[in-house]
Amino acid sequence: MYRTHNCGELRISHVGETVTLAGWVQIGRDFGGLTFIDLRDRYGITQLVFNMDENPELAEQARKLGREFVIQAIGVVRERSNKNPNRATGDIEIEVTRLTILNGSKTPPFTIEDESDGGDDLRMKYRYLDLRRKPLQKKIIFRSQLAIESRKYLAENGFLEIETPYLIKSTPEGARDFVVPSRMNPGQFYALPQSPQTFKQILMVAGMDKYFQIVRCFRDEDLRADRQPEFTQIDCEMAFVHQEDILNTFEGLTKALFKKTLGIELDDFPRMSYDEAMKLYGSDKPDLRFGMVFSELNDLAKGHGFGVFDEAELVVGICLKGQADNMSNKDFKKLTEWLKRPQIGAKGLVYVKFQGDGSIKSSVGKFYSDEQLKTWGDRMGAEAGDVLFILSGEAEKTRNQLSSLRLELGNRYGLIKEGDFKPLWVVDFPLLEWDEESGRYHAMHHPFTSPKKEDIPKMESSDKKVLGAIRADAYDLVLNGSEIGGGSIRIHDRALQERNFKLLGFTDEEAEAQFGFLMGAFEYGAPPHGGIAFGFDRLAAVMNGSASIRDFIAFPKNNQGRDMMIDAPAPISEEQKEELAIKTIEKLN
Ligand code: AMO
Repeated sequence: MYRTHNCGELRISHVGETVTLAGWVQIGRDFGGLTFIDLRDRYGITQLVFNMDENPELAEQARKLGREFVIQAIGVVRERSNKNPNRATGDIEIEVTRLTILNGSKTPPFTIEDESDGGDDLRMKYRYLDLRRKPLQKKIIFRSQLAIESRKYLAENGFLEIETPYLIKSTPEGARDFVVPSRMNPGQFYALPQSPQTFKQILMVAGMDKYFQIVRCFRDEDLRADRQPEFTQIDCEMAFVHQEDILNTFEGLTKALFKKTLGIELDDFPRMSYDEAMKLYGSDKPDLRFGMVFSELNDLAKGHGFGVFDEAELVVGICLKGQADNMSNKDFKKLTEWLKRPQIGAKGLVYVKFQGDGSIKSSVGKFYSDEQLKTWGDRMGAEAGDVLFILSGEAEKTRNQLSSLRLELGNRYGLIKEGDFKPLWVVDFPLLEWDEESGRYHAMHHPFTSPKKEDIPKMESSDKKVLGAIRADAYDLVLNGSEIGGGSIRIHDRALQERNFKLLGFTDEEAEAQFGFLMGAFEYGAPPHGGIAFGFDRLAAVMNGSASIRDFIAFPKNNQGRDMMIDAPAPISEEQKEELAIKTIEKLN
């Protein structure tokens, strides 16, 4: 037997027992007469002690152990004289009687402790060493619990876990596809799925009724902290449901996951329409952990000779509490520079300070009287000590910019309480989104999303305004300002699906070639259906207060989309290219 116990479980009640432990050498400390070894596994750390007087040969052996050696130790549990209250096993130690080296180790390229000294790429290259560190282990263990609890909840609610293929067909909607050449069909390619969307809908046509899958998805997009080229979804679909049924089921899942993994009971999730979210927060994923709701000032700010506001489509502001006397001209200057960076692209910033002594100071004081500025403050609920930040310009852009500023101020001024969770359903998304670059409409969610029944007639319009106002039965689950999941009620009628493809600029032939299988299925008794997919990596990260999903994935890619450990992607051999007909394609080109 390699071990009778793990390195995290022995307590004072075990004193006197003979035990066998196995694990990695965290660190050795040599005090001449006594040598201590901290033995580590994923459960914890236990102190081993070797006594030079009693067993010099064994103590000598212990002194030679290097970091990360894999050893087995047999010994007797005894009470420690100087206890370590910071460690679960801190009351005891093992007086070792037999030591076996199971495997040696080279000196690791970085320290395997909570705070590591290794750079990002180095730790990615030696991911197996990085994963031995406790903070990472905790994240991977959390992810495992989250998957297990998701399966439990969904199984208890009658969902079937069904796998869908990874080798599918490339389609132009959404992000770029990763493609895979087919040896047996030279010159043809599979694509890896961006999501199992069409398959789960087909499963509803097939009568499976309630489907889920914890499934890998592949998207060739630019990477960010919350995006990986391969990521995981809890993907779900249900037949004979309205939006309300889906929201209730998956609010239930989210609550159950919080309860089971974090012990947190979430209140019922508020709901907000897309339009309201944009108007009040300038974002379709508002962070509700702090206030600073937008106030529009067009009626108060225009027509007083300040050209920038007069010409703007929208003048809109937020109020920061209690910072007026702390903010200097330099602070505003810096903030203005921050807003003018190309990532945000604001033209300028207007501020109004309601100072503690009752006086008002503003960058537009020349154009507005104190009385007028006070009316702005009244609209925003400002009191003495508060600051207004006001942006103006084209409505959509300005809202976006103010949303970035709101989040920045929320972070800078510590308005976000750690450990706070604020979920939100954003509903009533628009069906279509105009894309300037391609000069056509894109599906805001995806082309299978159903317009709201009452908005279907608008699909016949050729007026861009009318088309842009079509609302969909589409919803997102937002948690602390992060989009955790999204879904919709689907079109289940061939004619409506065809109409939608037309709006998206598909010819009949293109629609048939790419999605004929789905529209064909709709002709054989497709039930009304809908679903949702949670970003599983994101959910795990946000539940742990982390903005980055990388460490919740055992083997993530770096920002260039590379796996540093296996060094992928990599060239393939000439023989492989020949076999996959890539050589022929190269020649033809
Ligand atoms: P959507 O494209 O909104 O919907 O994806 C669902 C959720 O997946 C997460 N997500 C990502 N996570 C990490 N890295 C990425 N690159 C990435 N892209 C998306 C997000 C997102 O909310 N088939 C539809 C779902 C449906 O309609 O049922 C879909 O895939 O958290």
